[in-house]
Amino acid sequence: MNVLIVGANGFTGRHILNSLIDKEEYRLFGCSLHDDIQPADGYEFLKIDICHEDQLEAAFKWVKPDVVINTSALSVPDYCETHHGEADEINTMAVEHIAQLCNEYDCRFIHLSTDFVFDGKTDRLYTEIDQPNPVNYYGITKWHGEQAIEKVCQNYAIVRVVVVYGKPLPGQHSNILQLVASKLRKGETIRVVSDQWRTPTYVGDIANGVEKLMHHPNNGIYHICGKDCLSVADIAYRVADLLQLDSSLIQPVTTEVMNEATPRPAFSGLSIEKAKQELGYNPMSLEEGIVKTFME
Ligand SMILES: NC(=O)c1ccc[n+]([C@@H]2O[C@H](COP(=O)([O-])OP(=O)(O)OC[C@H]3O[C@@H](n4cnc5c(N)ncnc54)[C@H](OP(=O)(O)O)[C@@H]3O)[C@@H](O)[C@H]2O)c1
Repeated sequence: MNVLIVGANGFTGRHILNSLIDKEEYRLFGCSLHDDIQPADGYEFLKIDICHEDQLEAAFKWVKPDVVINTSALSVPDYCETHHGEADEINTMAVEHIAQLCNEYDCRFIHLSTDFVFDGKTDRLYTEIDQPNPVNYYGITKWHGEQAIEKVCQNYAIVRVVVVYGKPLPGQHSNILQLVASKLRKGETIRVVSDQWRTPTYVGDIANGVEKLMHHPNNGIYHICGKDCLSVADIAYRVADLLQLDSSLIQPVTTEVMNEATPRPAFSGLSIEKAKQELGYNPMSLEEGIVKTFME
């Protein structure tokens, strides 16, 4: 099976690539905007800009994929808020083009999306049938990407993930858990929001869920995230507790006090019931994920 991972230099993309690398049934290809972040045996790397249609088409022609996994994105909400054109191109237009090429090559499209498609005005976990209503530009472009796939693609799964964590490679962006650990280890205070709730996702669980979906016959949206729903401040406290760091350095503040320029949904925990039932998806707890991230 020829598998093309788009965004293979990214945090999630590289983790998925590494998780498939030793499995004989896959012939692996990774592509990304910049040079290979950590070259290794077991896959071929293509340097392409997915916003250039000719480069994307050449990659499909070379790889002849059976499955395409798109982990590329302009994934920083604050950046998207001030760079609308770039966010549209990468998170929506390029995604539509990949979906069209997947039809042309008769291959399955697994596309990563986000909890930020929702407005957060709820007090229960969102399911796949709940109506998106994004509150920031990143969320808008990701939702438009989802809609383009649903309209165009014959064989697809959209995978919504939430606050992805794990061990980043040098050169990859950090995540809230790493940031908390790093600040507390240096004896610095950290402000975290106490009234935004998430279901944080260990990156290895995404790799498992995505592999299950590669072989799954159904089209549709799947929530692939952690099983614990807690506030961002409580995530920070869990890290401090498990790593035995000074939790008095954590300063919980409300969204209003934090006063960030980019709005974020208050409650964007996602329900994983569909993935559990249809795929046998069984993610680790946050505590297990923290142990894997920092202690293994
Ligand atoms: N991280 C989270 O907490 C989180 C939460 C919810 C949803 N998600 C979603 O999950 C997915 C993966 O997120 P992530 O944080 O792992 O992503 P990431 O680390 O930001 O990686 C994205 C990758 O996309 C590549 N890319 C960007 N523009 C490109 C272009 N024009 N052509 C080719 N490649 C391009 C970049 O490649 P180069 O490095 O080569 O430039 C980058 O490494 C995304 O769809 C994101 O929206 C993430």
